[in-house]
Amino acid sequence: MKRSEVNEIIAESDAFIRSHGYILPPFAYWSPDTMKARVAGDSAMIRDHMLGWDITDYGQGKFRDLGLFLFTVRNGSDTNVRRGMGMLYAEKIMISGENQISPMHRHDFKTEDIINKGGGVLVLELFKADSKGEIDETAAVRVRTDGTWRDLPAGGLLRLAPGESVTLEPDTWHAFWGEGGRVLIGEVSNVNDDRTDNIFQDQIGRFSSITEDQPPRHLLVSDYDSWLG
Ligand SMILES: [Fe+2]
Repeated sequence: MKRSEVNEIIAESDAFIRSHGYILPPFAYWSPDTMKARVAGDSAMIRDHMLGWDITDYGQGKFRDLGLFLFTVRNGSDTNVRRGMGMLYAEKIMISGENQISPMHRHDFKTEDIINKGGGVLVLELFKADSKGEIDETAAVRVRTDGTWRDLPAGGLLRLAPGESVTLEPDTWHAFWGEGGRVLIGEVSNVNDDRTDNIFQDQIGRFSSITEDQPPRHLLVSDYDSWLG
């Protein structure tokens, strides 16, 4: 993706999020220089726990068809997980555009609640994993939606209206997109490492590669290694 496109998506996404009454934390608005200074001082956690802007086209170069806007608001660490205490949770705010697909994937460790916070309908296509972790094309799918079991056929579509959510365990393959408009999506999960815990059906990447055609408005989490060291 071009940096100019990323900058534009940041601006329009921030406006959409605010229009639903959700305000991002202060570090969302730090310039790259401020981010650099602060992570070298009192705010190393933002870099180390990969908090912040995360805009991905999964490396395929067609963001409006295949892509996702995310902002990681909070996330614990492996140290927390090993100790079994401290910040054992993560929160993200995301946006799926109408018919903008987040491709079929599952996680080895992450259990996530995916919450429709407003806008259109969120559609999820769901499969169970077989004993090898592959997509089971025939097994029925059973998931909890706001504490209530829902049964679907393999590949069934679960539609979540604003206010509804689903709990996805690691054995559930999922793809999702907006229907009838953009959807503001919340995600509440256990500690999450997006560098290692996304298994995609197709051979695609989790992060975009960026072409620098203008300066970044804000850094993406995928910029931290190269920009912040
Ligand atoms: Fe997921």
